[in-house]
Amino acid sequence: MTFQIAIDGPAGAGKSTMAKILSKKLKAIYLDTGAMYRACGLKAINSGIDSKDEKALNKMVSDINITISFENDQQQIFLDGKNVNGLIRTPEISVSASDVSANKAVRLKMVEMQREIAKVNNVVMDGRDIGTYVLPDANIKFFLVADINERAKRRYHEMKEKNMNPDMESIIKDMNYRDTNDSSRDFAPLKQAKDAILIDTTNLNINQVIKVMLEYINETQTI
Ligand code: DC
Repeated sequence: MTFQIAIDGPAGAGKSTMAKILSKKLKAIYLDTGAMYRACGLKAINSGIDSKDEKALNKMVSDINITISFENDQQQIFLDGKNVNGLIRTPEISVSASDVSANKAVRLKMVEMQREIAKVNNVVMDGRDIGTYVLPDANIKFFLVADINERAKRRYHEMKEKNMNPDMESIIKDMNYRDTNDSSRDFAPLKQAKDAILIDTTNLNINQVIKVMLEYINETQTI
């Protein structure tokens, strides 16, 4: 029997940080589903496709080739045979990923892959619709939130570490855009699942959040 942990929430709430730590502790793989939508966003940009053009996106996704492998616990994502891990973390791709992820055909294709991976692996999966749509029967579901200023601050420091020359104002603008876009789309929007545990990480450090999560995980007898 495999187990599944779903972590959803808006950008900067701490999903990937917690998912990485939890997956190590629990000997599971960490599947970053956002990277898959980012690869789709990159493909749209590279192909000159408007990220809101439904027809063009339907066609694009019908022959897109996205594959994932795990090397030394690190997810590697390939778009049409090329490793694009280093190309998908820019602000431009964040916005494009949010736009293309509203397309139903794009989502259905990514969700199918996500479910296949979860069928045969213990997974900690993070995203926007994991608890509500991708893995409705996940053993545990977390929904992480945090104040927008705190989330933007975290993203600012991440980008600084990568020498990306961040700008606080545009980070907040992009986050607000994505929050609204991701939660208002028709199909599988960002939403807390009824049975998800809500954690506000605004005033908690990483260890404190992990402690809370592990307490819930240890309470469920299924993992
Ligand atoms: O988690 P992230 O910031 O890398 O995600 C990029 C975008 O992809 C996000 O703004 C919305 C979309 N996304 C989604 O719609 N569903 C997911 N499960 C994961 C990401």
